Amino acid sequence: VLVFFNLKLETEVTLARPTRDAYHHCVKTSFPLLLATCFCLALPGCTPPPVDPAKIVVPPEYPLRADWIVVSTPKSVPSGWFPPGRPPLVALDLPHDTLTGDEAALLADVKANAILNTRQLKHMETDPRPLIAKGLQAIYGTPAQPRVQLTMASLEEAIAAKEKELKDLPAAKKDERDLAQTELKDLEARRPARKLVEEGIESLKLDPETLKTGGNLFRNYCQQCHGLTGDGYGPGALALKPLPRDYRSGKFKFLASPPEKSGVKPRRADLYRTIANGLDGSAMPAFRALPAADIDALVSYVIHLSLRGETEYQVFAMAADKRKAADLFVDGIPAEMEVQLEKLLPMWKRSNETPVPVEPDPYVTDDDKLRAAAKGHAVFTDASQGGCIACHIGYGKTAPYSYDDWGGITKPRQLTLGTFRVGRSPEDLFARIYCGIPGVGMPSLSDAMLKKSPEEEAGTGNRKWELVHFVRTISDPILRRKLREQYGIVVD
Ligand code: HEC
Ligand code: HEC
Repeated sequence: VLVFFNLKLETEVTLARPTRDAYHHCVKTSFPLLLATCFCLALPGCTPPPVDPAKIVVPPEYPLRADWIVVSTPKSVPSGWFPPGRPPLVALDLPHDTLTGDEAALLADVKANAILNTRQLKHMETDPRPLIAKGLQAIYGTPAQPRVQLTMASLEEAIAAKEKELKDLPAAKKDERDLAQTELKDLEARRPARKLVEEGIESLKLDPETLKTGGNLFRNYCQQCHGLTGDGYGPGALALKPLPRDYRSGKFKFLASPPEKSGVKPRRADLYRTIANGLDGSAMPAFRALPAADIDALVSYVIHLSLRGETEYQVFAMAADKRKAADLFVDGIPAEMEVQLEKLLPMWKRSNETPVPVEPDPYVTDDDKLRAAAKGHAVFTDASQGGCIACHIGYGKTAPYSYDDWGGITKPRQLTLGTFRVGRSPEDLFARIYCGIPGVGMPSLSDAMLKKSPEEEAGTGNRKWELVHFVRTISDPILRRKLREQYGIVVD
């Protein structure tokens, strides 16, 4: 195929420039290549059979994780990107005497329990793995039959059993009655969360049929990077910078829903955009050519993998931590996983229904916007307001590397280059600044920024929009020059 296109291209070039030399050049370069290819194709076994999509093997179940798990952001500081093929968490499995300086420094984080090994559970009396696998499968199904499902009967059965226990307890046993009463209350308190889960499954389109379609598409288009379970370690992932997202920590970077104490998740619309548009400056491709219904199904499947992965993550974060494992009641793991889902799904649902409140932009004309950018510069550098410069040192040019919450490496964006993962539209930047970027430490707006300044009260200014205009202005060389000429602000 390459030779064919080479020939076609050369011919086109030749026709555009029909000189004798060009014809000779064309024949001289392409002919030997063509001959060599014909020879190769004629050799038996050289041409692989075409892939039959129906024959793509779907594993019978999701493998349980058996890798390193980051429970808090590593404190050691990498000096640069990891060597290709050796992401930090993969390097931890290599013989220690072969580790580079950065990799060896990460061992301190292992020692400090910031990174745990999910394969080392010897400190537990009973191996929890079989029960974790059973619990996950009961809720989330298998790759061929993915689902998100609570066994609704189990809570009502537990409530009924507790009620019976309470009825049978004689009044004299006051302590036992009190305990049973509290336990009954706890069980009953879970009813509203379960209702939210049921509603969430519907509004987030997590029905088995959509998930099945999404799963097939995911294995076709995404698995080579994001892995079967969404671990981010597919066969094509190990040399990518940044690494493909590991959905199992439940954290996503690019979302437009305000953070809450309970946490924040991307909205369906955010995931849709990521999949359709890709992420600029990373290996994440744009799948815009797929029909909208397919992208929709992929969104559902990503949510499914993330819910499954985060449920697994939470249990392993306890089991693999020697200090916490004693609190884990192994027989209760499947039931505990349902409680996890009762926490996670309402969070997804809330975020999905709560977009960032985008205030109207008071700066309309180009001159207004440049003036806003000049004010934004002050907000960007003022530690009591935006404080962005603390991380985006030199506007990102001289910012240091750091580990992220997935065990990968990140670096505050160089804002003068104009490459933004999601987009450089004012609304996109507003959402990014408002929400921050989870998992890499970029904070959402501080309280100081959410409280209105006197100017904002009077409706004559808006610091969030000033930041947006500043970031937009410095990402463009012509506007950057204007900012220097008119306001004396030098950014390069
Ligand atoms: C060639 C590798 C590659 C393929 C194929 C790929 N991705 Fe990605 N994906 C990435 C990388 C790399 C990132 C992380 C980018 C970053 O952190 O800036 C990413 C990030 C993501 C994110 C996280 C966005 C966020 O807000 O954190 C989602 C969701 C995602 N990809 C979904 C998909 C889906 C669905 C498919 C298949 C239709 C897919 N990807 C195919 C490489 C890939
Ligand atoms: C704690 C450090 C930190 C602070 C403080 C911080 N950032 Fe960032 N910022 C980052 C990192 C790290 C990234 C790159 C994230 C990634 O893609 O891995 C980033 C990326 C960005 C991006 C690129 C988004 C995209 O779509 O690619 C913008 C814009 C940005 N920051 C603006 C700001 C502004 C404005 C502020 C101040 C309100 C700020 N940052 C404060 C660390 C920080």
